[in-house]
Amino acid sequence: MPERLAEMLLDLWTPLIILWITLPPCIYMAPMNQSQVLMSGSPLELSSLGEEQRILNRSKRGWVWNQMFVLEEFSGPEPILVGRLHTDLDPGSKKIKYILSGDGAGTIFQINDVTGDIHAIKRLDREEKAEYTLTAQAVDWETSKPLEPPSEFIIKVQDINDNAPEFLNGPYHATVPEMSILGTSVTNVTATDADDPVYGNSAKLVYSILEGQPYFSIEPETAIIKTALPNMDREAKEEYLVVIQAKDMGGHSGGLSGTTTLTVTLTDVNDNPPKFAQSLYHFSVPEDVVLGTAIGRVKANDQDIGENAQSSYDIIDGDGTALFEITSDAQAQDGIIRLRKPLDFETKKSYTLKVEAANVHIDPRFSGRGPFKDTATVKIVVEDADEPPVFSSPTYLLEVHENAALNSVIGQVTARDPDITSSPIRFSIDRHTDLERQFNINADDGKITLATPLDRELSVWHNITIIATEIRNHSQISRVPVAIKVLDVNDNAPEFASEYEAFLCENGKPGQVIQTVSAMDKDDPKNGHYFLYSLLPEMVNNPNFTIRKNEDNSLSILAKHNGFNRQKQEVYLLPIIISDSGNPPLSSTSTLTIRVCGCSNDGVVQSCNVEAYVLPIGLSMGALIAILACIILLLVIVVLFVTLRRHKNEPLIIKDDEDVRENIIRYDDEGGGEEDTEAFDIATLQNPDGINGFLPHYRRGLLGGMSQDAV
Ligand SMILES: *[C@@H]1O[C@H](CO)[C@@H](O)[C@H](O)[C@H]1NC(C)=O
Ligand SMILES: *[C@@H]1O[C@H](CO)[C@@H](O)[C@H](O)[C@H]1NC(C)=O
Repeated sequence: MPERLAEMLLDLWTPLIILWITLPPCIYMAPMNQSQVLMSGSPLELSSLGEEQRILNRSKRGWVWNQMFVLEEFSGPEPILVGRLHTDLDPGSKKIKYILSGDGAGTIFQINDVTGDIHAIKRLDREEKAEYTLTAQAVDWETSKPLEPPSEFIIKVQDINDNAPEFLNGPYHATVPEMSILGTSVTNVTATDADDPVYGNSAKLVYSILEGQPYFSIEPETAIIKTALPNMDREAKEEYLVVIQAKDMGGHSGGLSGTTTLTVTLTDVNDNPPKFAQSLYHFSVPEDVVLGTAIGRVKANDQDIGENAQSSYDIIDGDGTALFEITSDAQAQDGIIRLRKPLDFETKKSYTLKVEAANVHIDPRFSGRGPFKDTATVKIVVEDADEPPVFSSPTYLLEVHENAALNSVIGQVTARDPDITSSPIRFSIDRHTDLERQFNINADDGKITLATPLDRELSVWHNITIIATEIRNHSQISRVPVAIKVLDVNDNAPEFASEYEAFLCENGKPGQVIQTVSAMDKDDPKNGHYFLYSLLPEMVNNPNFTIRKNEDNSLSILAKHNGFNRQKQEVYLLPIIISDSGNPPLSSTSTLTIRVCGCSNDGVVQSCNVEAYVLPIGLSMGALIAILACIILLLVIVVLFVTLRRHKNEPLIIKDDEDVRENIIRYDDEGGGEEDTEAFDIATLQNPDGINGFLPHYRRGLLGGMSQDAV
């Protein structure tokens, strides 16, 4: 049929080259100056081409443009005629031969070189190659000489709907919050169709839902998936499977289709309040449990998940609010009840708490549904425990005067067994804290007595530890620190703060301050020290010195005249009575030594000794005696030594001193030691000329007894 149509057209348009299908725009798009199409100067270019009128007017057109069309996937019994080449060259006597070259020439497209008919000899697939560029030429049949330049043209493969839509990214997953309103957008999907999107409807897709209704809907054109039911509840159903179809040909029957799946998961919103699993919880706890210990856990369940299920726990009421606290365990999503203050079975045996669990993350959209919280009652029973004794005070401070009598009571501690079966208690002193056994305690009544005298000036504090032990159970022990402070009693007299040595200038003026002294007292009176100074009663009218009390509790000693002379009196002793302000007051006499000295004109002491005139080195009598004794001792030693020496040297004197020395020096034998000593011959000694008149024997013996090396 197309072949016949072509022949018809051919007849009509002879001698033009005709192409099967021409699109109206092509008329305008193929102006004459497109040389690749129209090959200017070629005989193929008709004279009429220059006239625009012709181009616009199809019926009068003299030339064709360079496109042919062929349907893809054509599978008839014979090759499909694509088009026909023709030239209006005057062949004259010559026979024309058409030649085809370019994309697929000879393999896909075959030309009848006589008629110019082009056939597609293979099945074409637009999706594989949409167009072929070929070149046609008319040559002389015999000489093969080109009768005109080659002419290029295109064969376009025309689309048919041979590709189904495909979801390349499927299967899909999407989420949407539960309780969303109707029409909430969930996601969108896209299918692709390999067919020509600009030609026909082969690639025009329409989407629909095959499965997943009535929960979800899809917009046919945009493939946007929306919720189709309001208030879908995650706690009822969490996951939905949606099957989506894309159909081409605009969804009309006969179109091709593809499907994909979309899994929609509802995400949680806080639409459920917490709910306690039990309305009443029972816990029991021993009274001596350590503070902070977990006593029990309460849990409010929440159908939501994640943070929407999170609750914070609180104690909102009850008689144990001060003693217990509840903390929220975000991990386990429960509340832990802990002890905050000590329990006492003997005081209160049970407590009731009202606990509340409240969602932490409230969604205002659902807060109208009621409170997102729940309450439960917790009953806590306190169990009795055997407890150690309890002192009446955590510490004791006792005060005692240092002159307190031995065995006098200085204080008392008390303790009791808090248990119902109250055991009697015995007291003792931890002797590690009272190593000197300064105190005793009455084991029954806890009265502390003084065992040895106290001295505040030795130790102000005696910090001891008292132990209380239950008689019925010796392992129940408590300890308490007792600080005993020793209070001051005026038991020390004041005295000079240091050993003063005063100097007085011979040429000093009357009324001059010779020395200022201060006093000290080991006692520690409450209001500080106040000292009174006085001269001995018999010295009150001392013609030489007077005293003056200063503001700062010190005392100045003043010279009364200027008639002091160290030749006359070198040293004055001035006893001063110092008295404290205790009750009764204590006093002592300290004596100040005042030396008379020679001073320079400006009052600088230069010499204070009378002896200076006699013995310039100023030795004391004691030192002189000692030196004298030494000299005598030395003399005695010298005399003794000389006497002894004389006696011992007697034999040596027999020979000339010099000789002996000479002999000894020359002697070079080694000493014989002990053996030689034995050989000492006194007879020879006494008579050096003896039997042999032989001296060396003796000398040898003498040397042998001495260190020979020293020689
Ligand atoms: C004894 O205890 C008292 C009062 O706690 C304290 O001031 C003092 O420093 C303590 N003395 C000693 C030696 O520990
Ligand atoms: C006062 O000094 C003189 C000598 O200067 C002395 O003889 C006299 O005993 C002194 N009087 C007293 C009370 O020390």
